[in-house]
Amino acid sequence: MAKICVIGTGYVGLVTGTCFSDMGHRVTCLDINEKRIEKLNNGIMPIYEPGLKQIVDQNVDAGRLNFTTSYQEALKDAEFAFIAVGTPSSVDGDADMQYVKMAAETIASHLDHPIIIVNKSTVPVGTGDWVSEIIKDMNGGTTPPFCVVSNPEFLREGSAVNDFMEPDRVVLGSTNREAAEKVADLYEALRAPIMITDLRTAEMIKYASNAFLATRISFINEIANICESLGADVKEVARGMGMDKRIGPSFLDAGLGWGGSCFPKDVKALAHMAETRGSHPQLLQAVMDINQNQRKRAVQKVEKALGGLKGKTIGLLGLSFKPNTDDTRDAPALDIARMLLESGAVVQAFDPQAMEVSKKEIPQLQLRKNPYETAEAVDALILATEWNEFKSLDFERIKANMKGNVILDGRNIWDGTELYEMGFTYFGMGVPQPGE
Ligand code: UDX
Repeated sequence: MAKICVIGTGYVGLVTGTCFSDMGHRVTCLDINEKRIEKLNNGIMPIYEPGLKQIVDQNVDAGRLNFTTSYQEALKDAEFAFIAVGTPSSVDGDADMQYVKMAAETIASHLDHPIIIVNKSTVPVGTGDWVSEIIKDMNGGTTPPFCVVSNPEFLREGSAVNDFMEPDRVVLGSTNREAAEKVADLYEALRAPIMITDLRTAEMIKYASNAFLATRISFINEIANICESLGADVKEVARGMGMDKRIGPSFLDAGLGWGGSCFPKDVKALAHMAETRGSHPQLLQAVMDINQNQRKRAVQKVEKALGGLKGKTIGLLGLSFKPNTDDTRDAPALDIARMLLESGAVVQAFDPQAMEVSKKEIPQLQLRKNPYETAEAVDALILATEWNEFKSLDFERIKANMKGNVILDGRNIWDGTELYEMGFTYFGMGVPQPGE
């Protein structure tokens, strides 16, 4: 079994380190954030991820997983150092590489034995080579032998543990095939297809995959808008399309579009990389524009239905960018809340996990304890995130609580006809409006 060090305890690092330890490897997870490590050492997860705490606890108890802020301790005897630090977007869309740089430099300054450095952070194409240069430069040619392997992550928040344990594929890129094969051995027990390629191609696979998925969603949202104007039903259209094996059914849910920590940042960064190399990424640009527009369309629908937003009270169900996470990064719900507030509406909201963080972002949000309180005396109710607990609500109770009767189902999860028959004015995204 291998000795692994994982740098960064965000979604990617914590899930990667924990899952490797669960496969029997000895893992030390490192973070420079002392509070985070202290919490982890006390069994408190820094993120909400179903199933994660249980596996962390099990592997800590088994002595295979530990947490530290010390590079010296983490790198001691490590055969592999995974870099899984954040790469946020800078203002112009460029990925901000300061944390990757810092991790590479600190590894270099502590290195006293050969090591394979594995890049898991989503980094611009060419970063693997750059990391190699940093490490070489740091030690003036005296660095012990090392290799850099790119191993992009394809974990979805909310199902990250499962995605790690049952990947569709493992992608590894390196200029050194032997090093890539050693990393492949770490994943062997998962029995997943493993693809070994060169460094830059592996880095590109990550961007291209995320951009493609984002494109599918923007595509179906554009179709949704066309459906609306032609009286067709995008849910059925997507179902019909998805039955074609060449297309497949996933990532064709029309609605408020994508948010989160990956799609927005990665599509933007890919477009930026293209532009700086003289390409014109017109498809990527359209994909981003359509996504932004969905949020505006949702607000406009409610505005039109209510004859203006000023002085109106709107209930908002769901704040996280998708269900089963407390992450609100680039969440459509928060953008919608901001637009409503800017137009003079009062917004009362509920989310099963993301209330605290949303309130910090938007202090004017009035938080409620459950969906029914959220509907209390509102002119309109908007569903922004399709948490399971919103799927079968008691709409008689909602109706009795609401002042108005307008419902905007931003994720097309409710039966519009049923709601119409109960007396609601129902709007979905790309589905026929009952009663029209
Ligand atoms: C994504 C990728 O799926 C993962 O492989 C990558 O490495 C990290 O980014 P994640 O951001 O956790 O994962 O969420 P994902 O489940 O992919 O959804 C992204 C966004 O798209 C969410 O806002 C979701 O609501 C939206 N979405 C998804 C749709 O609007 N329609 C769909 O059909 C699917």
